[in-house]
Amino acid sequence: MSARLNEPVAGLAKVRPMTLADVHDIIEIERSAYPYPWSEGIFRDCVRVGYYCRVVELRGLVQGYGIMSFAADEAHLLNICIHQEIREHGVGRRLLQYLMDHARSIGMRYAYLEVRPSNPVAIYLYESMGFERVGIRKGYYQGSPVREDAWVYKLELTHDVHKQIDENA
Ligand SMILES: CC(C)(COP(=O)(O)OP(=O)(O)OC[C@H]1O[C@@H](n2cnc3c(N)ncnc32)[C@H](O)[C@@H]1OP(=O)(O)O)[C@@H](O)C(=O)NCCC(=O)NCCS
Repeated sequence: MSARLNEPVAGLAKVRPMTLADVHDIIEIERSAYPYPWSEGIFRDCVRVGYYCRVVELRGLVQGYGIMSFAADEAHLLNICIHQEIREHGVGRRLLQYLMDHARSIGMRYAYLEVRPSNPVAIYLYESMGFERVGIRKGYYQGSPVREDAWVYKLELTHDVHKQIDENA
């Protein structure tokens, strides 16, 4: 079941922590979004190991999710996905902004992600948020008949001015 779109969606969507109980809904969205979806086990592992896992909820229904890991001062966006029936309503941009704000707030200086060159919508979103292409990982993704490269994107997370003022007070 998905939300009906007769009202501004992005403003109504709530972001909250992902739980193991969400994986059932998530896997349906995942399978409809990607030709080579993650398994349920991967999502469970992400929650269990303590990655930053968030879902977007709209009127009680899970409609998207984002997952990040952190190492040293780098955030790595591992997955971001919005249910196809509520795409193009600003939810993906809002979720990405939320994830980057969190990464910045805990002191991450950079965010990295991989994306398929054949995914122009995601590339447009990332570039419009300030991500810059910094590399290629050859044959990174499954594909048919051949594996697909990944484009690696990087965002420099500028310092949160308010936090700096608090810290220096
Ligand atoms: C990428 C994705 C998360 C974007 O989510 P979304 O909720 O549709 O994103 P938004 O509505 O915030 O749109 C972001 C921008 O992309 C544009 N856009 C979104 N879908 C588009 C489409 N099909 N065609 C053209 N532009 C599109 C929007 O117009 C918006 O641009 P604007 O802010 O300049 O007007 C979503 O398409 C998705 O889940 N895709 C499948 C999973 C995926 O590929 N994830 C990324 C893996 S690297």
